[in-house]
Amino acid sequence: MATTTTQPNKPSLFPLLSLLCFISIFFLLSLSKRASLSSPNTHRTSATTVFPDASLTCDFSDGSWIYEPNPRSARYDGSCKEIFKGWNCVRNNKTNALEISKWRWKPKGCDLPSFDPLKFLEAHRDTNIGFVGDSLNRNMFVSLFCMLKTVTSDLKKWRPVGADRGFTFLRYNLTIAYHRTNLLARYGRWSANANGGELEAVGFKEGYRVDVDVPESSWAKAPSFHDILVLNTGHWWWAPSKFDPLKSPMLFFEGGRPILPPIPPADGLDRVLSNMVNFVEKTKRPGGILFFRTQSPRHFEGGDWNQGGTCQRLQPLVPREAEELFSVRNNGTNVEVRLVNQHLYNSLENRSGFHVLDITQMSEYRADAHPATSGGKNHDDCMHWCLPGLTDTWNDLFVATLGRIRGL
Ligand SMILES: *[C@@H]1O[C@H](CO)[C@@H](O)[C@H](O)[C@H]1NC(C)=O
Ligand SMILES: *[C@@H]1O[C@H](CO)[C@@H](O)[C@H](O)[C@H]1NC(C)=O
Ligand SMILES: *[C@@H]1O[C@H](CO)[C@@H](O)[C@H](O)[C@H]1NC(C)=O
Ligand SMILES: *[C@@H]1O[C@H](CO)[C@@H](O)[C@H](O)[C@H]1NC(C)=O
Repeated sequence: MATTTTQPNKPSLFPLLSLLCFISIFFLLSLSKRASLSSPNTHRTSATTVFPDASLTCDFSDGSWIYEPNPRSARYDGSCKEIFKGWNCVRNNKTNALEISKWRWKPKGCDLPSFDPLKFLEAHRDTNIGFVGDSLNRNMFVSLFCMLKTVTSDLKKWRPVGADRGFTFLRYNLTIAYHRTNLLARYGRWSANANGGELEAVGFKEGYRVDVDVPESSWAKAPSFHDILVLNTGHWWWAPSKFDPLKSPMLFFEGGRPILPPIPPADGLDRVLSNMVNFVEKTKRPGGILFFRTQSPRHFEGGDWNQGGTCQRLQPLVPREAEELFSVRNNGTNVEVRLVNQHLYNSLENRSGFHVLDITQMSEYRADAHPATSGGKNHDDCMHWCLPGLTDTWNDLFVATLGRIRGL
């Protein structure tokens, strides 16, 4: 299963004006961008470092999955109460549920250690950690919770400032919380006003109003409360399968007024990202550490979620298969993953304030790690991840990167 093909899912400098343009320039740009964005500000250079340590410079996000039939015992099990029912693949008897954690992520040129929960709690005392984003960030939050819970039960459940859920590990005064927000920006249903208006005048009757410059209230206080933030922007919420461009279009507002002429979702995404990144950098705590997590791929094959698409694979994809499923050129069902990443990298360009947690490549391979039919819905869940499972590795990446930043 281990392979070495490089996967071109890295950023381009150009907005998606044209697919052809993107494809033709992409390969030239990807390498230089990788160097500048993969781990901004995380590379410590020290006069005392005589031998460069691969663990300080290695790109954890570029690698392959290795099967280890006899791994150490699972990090936690299906009894962890925070696991959302549909993600509990062991309890739901998904056939490969116990296989999922036997795959180990192996970055090229170094190892990504499984983080040690006890060391983590001790190293990050008096720290508030906020996950801000959609249900995929909740999936990651739950994974972190379950791993920490294995070493201490001394905790308080509560909801800090706008959070959907949160816990403090009391002995360490370490708080983790999940703030639910799909687009980061505030949005809600919009329908035409009987008295008319600018959007009505250009023919809109209903849709969703998205205020590109207003953070959703669930997380607006999170940057000033948490010492560490892990943001993501809603996944496939930016794809046409979520907000139908005709029946329920996204209507973007800025400064309380509709943006006219109306802009397409791709441009709205850019405005939202730019505004939200500014907002977080401006309102974060002194010394606060900011992460932006890249997009989590869906693995619907044979159709989208509502067209009978499935994810029945029992093993990770090899790079060639992942390429077929996700390449922008193929414009497949799950193409939004790499498209949204392009916008994300563009918006973070030239900013030192955010560290990128690039989980996309490692996740694209894991077509085997979704709840699929065991998710208990009337369609396969090929979007969220089984727990225990892939997001445990996302947290390894998070903890390792945080360790680099804090010099641990
Ligand atoms: C999983 O299998 C066990 C043992 O056969 C059974 O008791 C349980 O009801 C099953 N769970 C689900 C959700 O089907
Ligand atoms: C717990 O940690 C928070 C966040 O860093 C800090 O504001 C607070 O003062 C700490 N509480 C105690 C009792 O040390
Ligand atoms: C990609 O596919 C969708 C439908 O599957 C289609 O609406 C869209 O026009 C395609 N985009 C490009 C750039 O070919
Ligand atoms: C980032 O900086 C480079 C070099 O200064 C510049 O060419 C580029 O336009 C900047 N990008 C953005 C999005 O500001």
